[in-house]
Amino acid sequence: MTSVELDLRRVYGAYPTGVAVVAGLVDDRPVGIAASSFVPVSLDPPLVSVCVAHTSTTWPLLRPLPRIGISVLGAHQEHAGRRIGSRAPDRFAGVDWRSTSDGCVLLDDAAAWFDCSIEQQVRSGDHDIVVFRVHDLDAVPGTPPLVFHASAFRRLT
Ligand SMILES: Cc1cc2nc3c(=O)[nH]c(=O)nc-3n(C[C@H](O)[C@H](O)[C@H](O)COP(=O)(O)O)c2cc1C
Repeated sequence: MTSVELDLRRVYGAYPTGVAVVAGLVDDRPVGIAASSFVPVSLDPPLVSVCVAHTSTTWPLLRPLPRIGISVLGAHQEHAGRRIGSRAPDRFAGVDWRSTSDGCVLLDDAAAWFDCSIEQQVRSGDHDIVVFRVHDLDAVPGTPPLVFHASAFRRLT
């Protein structure tokens, strides 16, 4: 990584975000990535977005799926964020998840979840901005969120 890219990472990291898991069923197995770039976009129509790196080896597996799940992690789900955000072969080990009849993979006890399909994908630098249409969603009020800031998992205290 160049020194400019290291600076960009450091300064982008000053912006605190949540952590989402973007996942689906591929050959009856859960496949997914962690994403700090999740952003709600629009109310009408309901749209959310995630930026996915062109280097992702998992996104080409998720992209053809009719439905993709997005789970917003709670503070108690740091293990899931670390594991699914890694390149480990079995990223869902020790993670409780469920699938919908449409093949969304959602994490149990997440702070919020979205059942989505891909609406639009815009090439933007070394990432794609993926816009998802939301078909169903819910949140568990009072669940404290997992926060990602300065390259570290944190909690609101
Ligand atoms: C907290 C956290 C946030 C992440 N956010 C993103 C993101 O927004 N976009 C992205 O493409 N990768 C993100 N990653 C990396 C992916 O989760 C995953 O590790 C990466 O896509 C490499 O795996 P793959 O080759 O299987 O896709 C994040 C990782 C972590 C731990």
